[in-house]
Amino acid sequence: MPSVFIKTYGCQMNERDSEAVAAQLMARGYGVAPDEKQADVVLLNTCSVRDSAEQKALNKMGSLVGQTRKHNPDTLLGFLGCMAQSRGQELMDQLPDVDLVLGTQKFHRVGQYLDDLFAGRREQVVDTEEEKGSESAIREHLPDEGDKSRVVTAFVSIMQGCNQFCTFCIVPYTRGRERCRSIEDIVAECRGLVEGGVKEITLLGQIVNSYGKREIGPKDGQSAFVQLIESVHQIDGLERIRFTSPHPKGYGNDLVEAYARLPKLVENAHLPVQSGSDRMLKLMHRGYTRQRFIRLVGQLRAACPEMGVGTDIIVGFPGETEEDFEETLSLCREVEFDNAFLFKYSQRRDTPAARMPDQLDDLLIEERHSRLMELADGVRARKLQGYVGRKMEILVEGFSRRNADRLEGRTRCNKIVVFEGSERFIGQVMEVQIESATKTTLYGQL
Ligand code: 5AD
Ligand code: SF4
Repeated sequence: MPSVFIKTYGCQMNERDSEAVAAQLMARGYGVAPDEKQADVVLLNTCSVRDSAEQKALNKMGSLVGQTRKHNPDTLLGFLGCMAQSRGQELMDQLPDVDLVLGTQKFHRVGQYLDDLFAGRREQVVDTEEEKGSESAIREHLPDEGDKSRVVTAFVSIMQGCNQFCTFCIVPYTRGRERCRSIEDIVAECRGLVEGGVKEITLLGQIVNSYGKREIGPKDGQSAFVQLIESVHQIDGLERIRFTSPHPKGYGNDLVEAYARLPKLVENAHLPVQSGSDRMLKLMHRGYTRQRFIRLVGQLRAACPEMGVGTDIIVGFPGETEEDFEETLSLCREVEFDNAFLFKYSQRRDTPAARMPDQLDDLLIEERHSRLMELADGVRARKLQGYVGRKMEILVEGFSRRNADRLEGRTRCNKIVVFEGSERFIGQVMEVQIESATKTTLYGQL
């Protein structure tokens, strides 16, 4: 049977979609190729959130067409995911050697289309149609192949799409409107994972706290998302629950209280703020103010003093003045994020922000980005240093990515800890004494 190599760009949703595609193809008898040169099928699962991610995938496909085809002229090449969705046929016109372009609601159809292409029933496939029920199709996981380090944590997609339409963001156009899976379906998937050895599950969605708002609704004062967390919480053998990403707008008290009430829900919140300026937040159509955001972080930290708080910030949104930017700097000083992902604003086609006046110069964006980076890196390093000398509970995830002689685990508040220990600890919850910290990692001893 043919072998496949999938390269993934972008977010954890994409990682999860790629895994589901790989699992689907393996179930059909396909093999996994160790690299693109030895593959009979190369698929690029693309991201459109910033232009740089699109350019990377386009360049990659250009070189695949040139090189891989030389080794094996019959290799099938395809684009999946967000850029495939937003550009569709245009990709085929630009790169006529590509065989397959499948949008974000078609991941479950990859196997069937590849079979058709191999059998010569089709020459090329472009499919970016909407498909009812596709949100429930991302549920297959790769089987455990004896690599213990892979089975400790898993991602589970609970919904697809977004209705928020932030003015800078392409996601509502590439992933479509919000659609959620049923609680029973998600719990069944989680239960299967835990039976296979998974100890930590991360629930994934564009705005997880909108999960089931319309379809399921609140019950006994608990939003549908909190009902889902409670159901997952009941699974015996599951140690930890995380979720990403919630939206500050509509982040209810029930979800704040869930942290204090549910011991498996670990103390970590990734809460994208995007800007510290109310004027920018309004233009971005974020639906909250700086003050509301700060209050929410305060509530979370009051519920759990150990709460690790992460965020996403965009620098250089159209019309951002020095004063607006300084509001973002001051927000970062005030909130002291444990981890901040900083993005340079990237103009996306068909989004309202792309048509706004006063698009900023690249150099100015670059300069603000490095100023903010310096601040955020300093805060993160200082916070990590604060853990030195403390005992922390970690879930041992596997061998350290940087040094295979050591193990790596994660604290409940999402800090990576590297330490020495035996392979048999993988999958266990243990206590480590933190001895030192670098800018990104803690080092400790069992
Ligand atoms: N430019 C820069 N960053 C963006 N993001 C989304 N759209 C854009 C854009 N047009 C960032 C946001 C979001 C993260 C996933 O990507 O910060 O939270
Ligand atoms: Fe994009 Fe905003 Fe939806 Fe997040 S909430 S996916 S930033 S539109």
